[in-house]
Amino acid sequence: RGAVDEPADLAGRRVVISAGGTREPLDPVRYLGNRSSGKQGYALARTAAARGAAVTLVAANTALPDPAGVTVVPVSTTEELREAVVKAAAEADAVVMAAAVADFRPASRAPQKIKKRDDRGPEPIALVRNPDILAELAAGRRPGQLVVGFAAETEDVLANGRAKLARKGCDVLVVNRVGEGIAFGTEENEAVILEAGGAETPVPHGPKEALADRVWDVVARRWP
Ligand code: CTP
Ligand code: CA
Repeated sequence: RGAVDEPADLAGRRVVISAGGTREPLDPVRYLGNRSSGKQGYALARTAAARGAAVTLVAANTALPDPAGVTVVPVSTTEELREAVVKAAAEADAVVMAAAVADFRPASRAPQKIKKRDDRGPEPIALVRNPDILAELAAGRRPGQLVVGFAAETEDVLANGRAKLARKGCDVLVVNRVGEGIAFGTEENEAVILEAGGAETPVPHGPKEALADRVWDVVARRWP
């Protein structure tokens, strides 16, 4: 990337991207988490920066090098991610939620390390729902601001994706099938970009950077 013919078609635009996966602490040493590597979000950040955008990357528990020229905000829990994304979104022309956000968190966080006991079995872990950040961003977006979600589905990919796009109220939802060696932790992805209004753009199996570029193409076309 960075070739002389690189289009700077996102120049003058501010974008916010969340990446990685949130972790919800159970106690000072344990958490509930997920397998998201953050690679798709980082690819979105690199491609947006290469195309001239000012990029804020809210990175949840990733172990990837900071993309050059990108403002990286490290977070861990869903509440931290929410705070950082909502704050950065106030100035943004587009927000892309590529992070895997924990749907639930432990109802309480033990102040000390939880100990096992020989006189009784393990306690169940009580969970509570986390806020839906994407739906909140979509409901609160400024005129001209675009809100993009990602959804990994294991079955009925398109039907689930279309329903989720409508439910979240976002402008664009990128749906991909997980399993079969694609998506989580891999270098490649394959997806369909669903837009409010019904447009559907399939993106063939390929590098996460290629999918990222197709997402920015759609965002650039939809900007007023
Ligand atoms: N998302 C979010 N806040 C949540 C959960 C999800 O912002 N509490 C965002 C994700 O970042 C992603 C999109 O919503 O961009 C879709 O995530 P997904 O887990 O597929 O959606 P859910 O509504 O949680 O649906 P499901 O019950 O299938 O997990
Ligand atoms: Ca979920």
